[in-house]
Order: sequence, then C-alpha cells, then structure tokens
Amino acid sequence: MANRGTFFPGLASFLFVFLGFIHFPAEAAINQYQFDIQVKNVSRLCHAKPIVTVNGRYPGPTIYVREGDRVLVNVTNYAQYNMSIHWHGLKQYRNGWADGPAYITQCPIMTGNSYTYDFNVTGQRGTLWWHAHILWLRATVYGAIVIMPKQGTPFPFPQPNREEIILLGEWWHTDVEAIEDQGKRMGLPPNMSDAHTINGKPGPLFPCSEKHTFAMEVESGKTYLLRIINAALNDELFFAIAGHNMTVVEVDAVYTKPFTTQSILIAPGQTTNVLVQANQIPGRYFMATRSFMDVPIPVDNKTATGILQYKGIPNTVLPTLTQLPAPNDTAFALSYNKKLRSLNSPNFPATVPQKVDRKLFYTIGLGRDSCSTCVNGTRLLASLNNISFVMPETALLQAHYFNLKGVFKTDFPDKPPKPFNYTGAPLTASLGASHGTRLSKIAFNSTVELVLQDTNLLTVESHPFHLHGYNFFVVGTGIGNFDPAKDPAKYNLVDPVERNTVGVPTGGWTAIRFRADNPGVWFMHCHLELHTGWGLKMAFVVEDGPGADQSILPPPKDLPPC
Ligand SMILES: *[C@@H]1O[C@H](CO)[C@@H](O)[C@H](O)[C@H]1NC(C)=O
Ligand SMILES: *[C@@H]1O[C@H](CO)[C@@H](O)[C@H](O)[C@H]1NC(C)=O
Ligand SMILES: *[C@@H]1O[C@H](CO)[C@@H](O)[C@H](O)[C@H]1NC(C)=O
Ligand SMILES: *[C@@H]1O[C@H](CO)[C@@H](O)[C@H](O)[C@H]1NC(C)=O
Ligand SMILES: *[C@@H]1O[C@H](CO)[C@@H](O)[C@H](O)[C@H]1NC(C)=O
Ligand SMILES: *[C@@H]1O[C@H](CO)[C@@H](O)[C@H](O)[C@H]1NC(C)=O
Ligand SMILES: *[C@@H]1O[C@H](CO)[C@@H](O)[C@H](O)[C@H]1NC(C)=O
Ligand SMILES: *[C@@H]1O[C@H](CO)[C@@H](O)[C@H](O)[C@H]1NC(C)=O
Ligand SMILES: *[C@@H]1O[C@H](CO)[C@@H](O)[C@H](O)[C@H]1NC(C)=O
Ligand SMILES: *[C@@H]1O[C@H](CO)[C@@H](O)[C@H](O)[C@H]1NC(C)=O
Ligand SMILES: *[C@@H]1O[C@H](CO)[C@@H](O)[C@H](O)[C@H]1NC(C)=O
Ligand SMILES: *[C@@H]1O[C@H](CO)[C@@H](O)[C@H](O)[C@H]1NC(C)=O
Repeated sequence: MANRGTFFPGLASFLFVFLGFIHFPAEAAINQYQFDIQVKNVSRLCHAKPIVTVNGRYPGPTIYVREGDRVLVNVTNYAQYNMSIHWHGLKQYRNGWADGPAYITQCPIMTGNSYTYDFNVTGQRGTLWWHAHILWLRATVYGAIVIMPKQGTPFPFPQPNREEIILLGEWWHTDVEAIEDQGKRMGLPPNMSDAHTINGKPGPLFPCSEKHTFAMEVESGKTYLLRIINAALNDELFFAIAGHNMTVVEVDAVYTKPFTTQSILIAPGQTTNVLVQANQIPGRYFMATRSFMDVPIPVDNKTATGILQYKGIPNTVLPTLTQLPAPNDTAFALSYNKKLRSLNSPNFPATVPQKVDRKLFYTIGLGRDSCSTCVNGTRLLASLNNISFVMPETALLQAHYFNLKGVFKTDFPDKPPKPFNYTGAPLTASLGASHGTRLSKIAFNSTVELVLQDTNLLTVESHPFHLHGYNFFVVGTGIGNFDPAKDPAKYNLVDPVERNTVGVPTGGWTAIRFRADNPGVWFMHCHLELHTGWGLKMAFVVEDGPGADQSILPPPKDLPPC
C-alpha cells in the first residue's frame, strides 16, 4: 500500500520540478484557469502551420485538481471558429451547463466572447481530459485533467516515484477544417491523418521529425505512473514500451484490478493509467503507438514513437524497437478488454445496478443517403436504431430547461424499427436511414441497461461509445448478435469495468448499465469524430427528481446564446 506520510510531498515536488508553475491546493479549493483560444503557427513534423490552440500550446495545458475541488475555466475565443470545450468524463452532477458539447448543452462561444465553465469534481479521481467539442477542432484543442485523490487518501497501488502524462494524438499537415469540409462536400471519409503523435510529437520514424520526439527520463529501480490518454479523432490505438511491461491500475478515472500486459489498447476518449518499473538494462527504449483496425477500412497506420531513456545514457545510443500487436489483432483486443475489471474494494465499490428498470437495444449502422452534389451521388451516413441524428440550432439543454417547443422530440425508440440478422452477411441494399433530433426520456434514478449492437450495414466495425454525464458498467460483451435469452446469464454483475467510453467490438455487442441519477440532457455518441459527424449520436433527457437537490441547476449568467 502507498505510504500516507510521503505521498503528497513526493508528488508535489515532482510536479514543481517537472511541470513548473503548478499551484497545488492544500484542501478543497477553487482552481482557476484562463483558456485563450488562439490560432498559432506551430512547427511540427516537416511543416509549420497555423493551428487552433489553448494559450498557444499544443497539446494544451493540464488541469490539476483534487477530488472535491471546484474548477473555474474562463474560455475566451480569439479564433475565427465557434468553440466549446468538453471536460471528458467529469460527471457534472445537475450541471450540464458545464459539460460542453456544442448545441447539446450549450451554444458555442463565438469569436470575441468568453464563457466560464464552473464545476465541482465530486466522487472521482484519476486521469480524464478536456477537448474541443465542435467541428474537428479537438484535433489540436485538447489536454489532460489530473484529479488527485483527497488529501491523505493514498492510491490503492504502490506509490509511484513520479508520473507522466502521455497524450496520444492524430496530426494532419493541412487545416483540419478544410479536411472535414472536403469530406462533407464529397460525401466520403475525409483524408486520413498524416501522423500519430505522443505528446504532440511523432518521433524519429516519421520523416524530418528528429527534433520532434517525446522523451521521458527514468532512473533504474524507480516506478512511474503513466497517465495515457487517446486524444486521436478516429483511431483506436495500441501502445507499448520496448522491454517493459505495464501494470494497468485505472481506466477512465476508475481504479481497476491490476494486471500486467506488454501492450494496451485504448480507444479515442479513453484513458489508461499504468505503472512502469525501470527494471531493465539502462538504455534507451522506444515507446510506440499505432492503430488497431480489424476490417479492411483504410486508416492511418503510421507508428508514432517516443523514448524511455535511463538517466545517464547518451542520446547517441540507438533505442530498442518496440513490438506492437498487429494492426488487425482482434484476438489481442478481445482478450485485453476482458482483463479489465473494477477494483471493487471496500473503499472503491462497484455499485452495479442489479435490477434494470429500462432495457434499451440500439443498433449501430453505416449507410448512404443520396446527395446530388457528392461523388457518385451519395453521402455516407451513420445511425443508431436507423436514426441519423440531426444537430439542432439551439442547445438541447436550454430547450429542455426552458421548455422550448419544436427543438427536439423525445421519441427515440428503445429498439430498432425492424429486427434483422445484424451481423450476418453484409447488407448493401436499403442503406438509408431516417433523420431527426430524437432523444430518449429517462426517469430520474431509474436503472438503465443499454445493449449496443454493431451491424453489417455496409460493413462491421469497432465503435468506441461515449456517454456524457455518467460512468457506466460494462456488464457484458460478445461477438455476433446479442441473444436476450442467453447472454444476460453470462453478465458480470460483480466487478465489471466502470468507465465513460467503451469499444463495441467489430461485428459484436456490448451491454452497459447505469443509474440515471444525474438530471439533464446527456449526449451519447461514437467517439470516432468521423462517425459522430455522420450522425452516430443521440441524447438522453434524464428527468428531474422530486428532491430539492435533484433538479438541473439554474443556467449560469454568461451561458453563450445561439
Ligand atoms: C508559419 O511559419 C512558416 C515557417 O516559419 C512560414 O513559412 C509560414 O508563412 C507561416 N504561416 C503563417 C500563416 O504565419
Ligand atoms: C474571461 O476572460 C476575458 C478575457 O480576458 C475577460 O474579459 C473576462 O472578464 C473574463 N471573465 C471572467 C468571468 O473572469
Ligand atoms: C460546487 O460546490 C459548491 C460548494 O459546495 C457549491 O456552492 C456550488 O453550487 C457547486 N457548484 C456546482 C456547479 O455544482
Ligand atoms: C486530401 O488528399 C488529396 C489526395 O492526396 C489531396 O489532393 C487533397 O488536397 C487533400 N485535401 C485537403 C483538404 O487537404
Ligand atoms: C512481462 O510479463 C510477461 C508475462 O507476464 C513475463 O513473461 C515477462 O518476463 C515480463 N517481462 C518483464 C520485462 O518484466
Ligand atoms: C498502411 O496504409 C497504406 C494506405 O492505406 C497502405 O498502402 C499500406 O500498405 C499500409 N501499410 C501496412 C503496413 O499495413
Ligand atoms: C492481418 O494482416 C496480415 C497482414 O496484412 C494478414 O496477413 C493477416 O491475414 C491478417 N489477419 C487477419 C486475422 O485478418
Ligand atoms: C464511384 O462509382 C464507381 C463506379 O461504380 C466506382 O468505381 C468508384 O469506386 C465509386 N467511387 C466512390 C468514391 O465510391
Ligand atoms: C445470420 O447470418 C450468419 C452469417 O450469414 C448465419 O451464419 C446465421 O445463421 C444467421 N442467423 C440467423 C438467425 O439467420
Ligand atoms: C432505415 O430507414 C430507411 C428510411 O426509412 C429504410 O429505407 C431502411 O430500410 C431502414 N433500414 C433498416 C435497417 O431498418
Ligand atoms: C436511487 O434509488 C436507490 C435505490 O432505490 C436509492 O438507494 C437512492 O437513494 C436513490 N437515489 C436518489 C438520488 O434518489
Ligand atoms: C457560430 O454560432 C452561432 C450561434 O449558434 C451561429 O449563429 C453561427 O452561425 C456560428 N458560426 C459559424 C461560422 O458556424
């Protein structure tokens, strides 16, 4: 167990030494940040180009807080684009106003305007992250959120000597908004990224990037906590360090039963904390990341590398190469995800709903619409229960709170319109979908089970689904069609992994459960930005409860108007 006495001072001095200016609160405190959205010409890879940044930094600044703290982030938009920021994985109890997805919980912060995100960090500790939640701007507008446990509460794993944030990203040489627009106009997937990055840098395997390599210095015999975040737009990623095993201890800011692995799999939106021991012959070791894609869909398959460097080893020593699972290694992906279990200790129990009030079954579909101006007269689309979501022009949370009519309907169906052999032979006929801003209404504090079923409409594919406002328990998963008669018997209702983003396997299904105790309008979507844009999204309206502290808080005065 961690040593209570030395825990905080050790970490604090590390933070001061390695990260400079951090002001760590002594007790529940108010943490204030200023985020200036600015376009900066940054030099990365072979080109310098203007990108949208926070405070001119790429990746953006880290938010450091302690469980129980309040956070105020004043976002001022100096860029030519509308902006909104999502605090990915923070529950925002009764406080959807601070959640961030544009046109879902707020109207965007327009050029020249400011909005202060004001939220409390309650009942959570670990690694989360923040990112732009509008257009494709999260390609460069993202950063880490580190939530330290309450003062005096140790980690439930051996105390690391130091910690490091590892943000995995995706980079385009040209303007991401031009890329997104071109895809929309043509009705095709936009150009894939030009490189993957580790803390904004692609590493030496990428041409002309010698200067752009992330390096982390370690000392023999010490233990390091890596806070790994997948901030890529469209790629699930493997990550490994040559010669060093990793012990997974937390995902999405929830402690897990520790297990050791040579590689991790991390989907866009997810976070994974691992312990790494510097227990090898002192040298230089590559850390590497590359896409996982197990169907023949083209993806950016380039490897980004960083270096784990033992103290005192000169830069001239060639680093040892890393072995990553093959890009199409389905077996690794399935077995890795199976190892993830909640810690479920007395201090951190897994409060899995045992009884379900509301059962939902959603099919994930790709398809095509006609589009006279697009290539071949069609545009790719995506749907849930055959509904491709239409973004409203007024934020849904405001429409709900102020009871504005005509913005959305609450008739999102609990099951697909017509059952079919979801994962049977590829379906290429009748690939259209209906379109609408349709939400699903959920009673306060009811328990919900949602089965997400991949389909072979056009193609099967793995989809990382993210729910805002909640964590959920991943009670079951399987390949093929979900069988409501047999599969629930195999659910794990004891220690399933608890998280906010889950990969639905290629041609398979995933069952999640949560208690709807957070009133508001909560977005749920595939975290592949490509698919979100095609309509693979919907939202839940969780009703207010009867108690005084069970309804949506009043909106802040500076909430941006539409
Ligand atoms: C960005 O920097 C590069 C290299 O210094 C320069 O060639 C380019 O003109 C700059 N672009 C802008 C928009 O300032
Ligand atoms: C947010 O920052 C802007 C720009 O500096 C400033 O004008 C505004 O007063 C700030 N808002 C708050 C609430 O501090
Ligand atoms: C945050 O907590 C403080 C202190 O309990 C409370 O006054 C404030 O209303 C809370 N803010 C939100 C957004 O819940
Ligand atoms: C996308 O890639 C194609 C082919 O390489 C290129 O011609 C086009 O300019 C790219 N689009 C954008 C927006 O950069
Ligand atoms: C990594 O773990 C594997 C499997 O548990 C084990 O065989 C191997 O010796 C470990 N390697 C190191 C460097 O600890
Ligand atoms: C990587 O992707 C490119 C373009 O889709 C393809 O030509 C190439 O064969 C792929 N490389 C590997 C190693 O899969
Ligand atoms: C994975 O890709 C490799 C190389 O392209 C190929 O030889 C192999 O058959 C693929 N494996 C599966 C299971 O598709
Ligand atoms: C357009 O249709 C032609 C002819 O059917 C086909 O060869 C081509 O691949 C299609 N292009 C796209 C982008 O779907
Ligand atoms: C669904 O399709 C698969 C593959 O074609 C087939 O093996 C299976 O029997 C079908 N299931 C049903 C219920 O028709
Ligand atoms: C989805 O809806 C479209 C348009 O109503 C219809 O043509 C198609 O058959 C439906 N597909 C499925 C799988 O239900
Ligand atoms: C929700 O329901 C559970 C089980 O009935 C109960 O223990 C809990 O107090 C309720 N929570 C709220 C906020 O009403
Ligand atoms: C920015 O947001 C406002 C408010 O929703 C909207 O009216 C405007 O069209 C948006 N601007 C752009 C460039 O999308």
